[in-house]
Amino acid sequence: MGAGLPAIARVLAPPISKLTAAAQSPYNRAFFPKGTPLVADKRYSCIGLYNPKSPENVGSVMRAAGCYGVASVFYTGKRYERAADFVTDTKRVHYDIPLIGIDDLKKILPLNCVPVAVELVEGARPLPEYTHPDRALYIFGPEDGSLDKEIRDWCEDVVYIPTTGCMNLAATVNVVLYDRMAKGLNTRSGPKFR
Ligand SMILES: C[S@@+](CC[C@H](N)C(=O)[O-])C[C@H]1O[C@@H](n2cnc3c(N)ncnc32)[C@H](O)[C@@H]1O
Repeated sequence: MGAGLPAIARVLAPPISKLTAAAQSPYNRAFFPKGTPLVADKRYSCIGLYNPKSPENVGSVMRAAGCYGVASVFYTGKRYERAADFVTDTKRVHYDIPLIGIDDLKKILPLNCVPVAVELVEGARPLPEYTHPDRALYIFGPEDGSLDKEIRDWCEDVVYIPTTGCMNLAATVNVVLYDRMAKGLNTRSGPKFR
């Protein structure tokens, strides 16, 4: 019985056959001793690139992702291919952080993660005043285009950086990630998140 459970859980748990399917889960808190910390309290950020133009763009984004501890990077479109040369990712971050090609950014939103469009567009919220989500998927447009209304409408928030004219893609990614880092524990749930 309960071969996959920690030893303490095997001692405390009633016979599996007497439990409902939900209670049988090894992740049910009833199996764990009092004081076991909750695990669903981790901040993270992911990046979504909408049809990025070139390997240089993606390489520079990967470099930023490595510097700021991004969990994974997703991209759409065919213009950039995974086998492309990462000339700008001199730290070889693309081996450490998953870089995943998909057909639609809406399909990969992790549970409990907030999609945030980053675009210099009317109605967007200024980044300096923005409180970041605990778990965020930041979505950026391509070097030679912008995020269309459909994806902006799907995102929970749209933020912009109050620059004179737009920055290049990698510069924007660096600024957003730096802003998140500089605000520290001040994401939506505050210090109760790790
Ligand atoms: C180089 S910009 C795109 C070019 C731009 N749409 C144009 O009219 O030339 C690439 C992406 O960086 C982001 N971006 C650049 N500057 C920004 C800013 N000041 N605020 C928010 N996003 C910005 C957006 O996601 C944008 O789609």
